[in-house]
Amino acid sequence: MTATPHPAVPTRTLGTSPGVPVSALGLGCMGMSALYGAADREESVATLHTALEAGITLLDTGDFYGMGHNEMLIGEALRGLSADLRDRALISVKFGALRSVEGGFLGYDGRPAAVQNFAAYSLQRLGTDHIDIYRIARVDPDVPIEETVGAIADLVRAGHVRHIGLSEVGADTIRRAAATAPISDLQIEYSLISRGIEEEILPVCRELGIGVTTYGVLSRGLISGHWQPDRALDARDFRTASPRFQGDNLRHNLGLVETLRAIAEERGVSVAQLAIAWVLARGEDIVPLVGSRTRKRLSEALGALDVTLDAGDLAAIEAAVPAGAAAGDRYPAEQMAHLDSEKKS
Ligand SMILES: NC(=O)c1ccc[n+]([C@@H]2O[C@H](COP(=O)([O-])OP(=O)(O)OC[C@H]3O[C@@H](n4cnc5c(N)ncnc54)[C@H](OP(=O)(O)O)[C@@H]3O)[C@@H](O)[C@H]2O)c1
Repeated sequence: MTATPHPAVPTRTLGTSPGVPVSALGLGCMGMSALYGAADREESVATLHTALEAGITLLDTGDFYGMGHNEMLIGEALRGLSADLRDRALISVKFGALRSVEGGFLGYDGRPAAVQNFAAYSLQRLGTDHIDIYRIARVDPDVPIEETVGAIADLVRAGHVRHIGLSEVGADTIRRAAATAPISDLQIEYSLISRGIEEEILPVCRELGIGVTTYGVLSRGLISGHWQPDRALDARDFRTASPRFQGDNLRHNLGLVETLRAIAEERGVSVAQLAIAWVLARGEDIVPLVGSRTRKRLSEALGALDVTLDAGDLAAIEAAVPAGAAAGDRYPAEQMAHLDSEKKS
């Protein structure tokens, strides 16, 4: 598939070797299948169609989001489109997570044979002849990153994958991966309240010419301005166990949101738009993935592209929510332990 961006959404380029032109906002599809409670299938498909029509070209998924559900949903949405629209889509797929029948996470598999196997199944579910960007979701601690990236490079040579990405890895792993094969982008959490990449990881990506696709830009809804503390969550919702959504932490974090709301209202934009625009303003090499599951939320997110933050706006936002202001880690402890990006080098 080739990307033909719609004029309304600007283009950014992921990485330099070679650069991958994508829409300045990507659509993260995870919540349409998993982790954020029930989603409406028809609305999900309509949201995917509207995103592509609006000029979003980058769609992000994982083969383990709903154990294949998310890829099949994207495949279904693409099948219902004209060739022109379908060809705009660039699909970024994460693999490697091992799931149980009950939906638990059992670990990660980055062995070369597993990479081939995961890709074969993904291509079937997506109904495409290649994956645009392929990456392991978390490093397999038993397999050197060189072997996993080398296996994806074999898929690139065979024409099944176009580009190699990384996910939630730290500076040393980024360097080792980049020494193995060209890397288009690192996918990692980054938002006003998750700024851990600024010290070391972002500079290393910039030094090596690797783009950054950021998730959790709204901190999973927490800083969207729409989060209600009494929202009922089903047992598998990520936020039931997320430290930032618990008790005093939640109260503190929603207090930060109110300081952002005051700034957003002054400028006539929504809190979500302010938070997305802040990430967009952090650099042309950064592409926020927004987890919009409905056309309404998508429309709000797209509105962030029209928000220009000047130096005064950025200073006001920084003063309202300084780095490190959030209460609670961004993942529960057992999931933090899987994050190569959180290991100090
Ligand atoms: N590499 C990784 O480790 C990793 C990890 C997590 C996610 N990801 C990828 O990144 C994507 C984005 O992450 P995310 O979904 O956690 O990010 P997010 O955009 O921070 O959070 C999405 C949540 O925010 C809420 N929201 C409120 N207003 C919104 C708006 N205008 N636009 C979008 N969402 C709004 C949505 O709630 P309602 O729909 O309930 O309103 C949704 O539950 C995922 O879909 C996935 O593809 C990658």
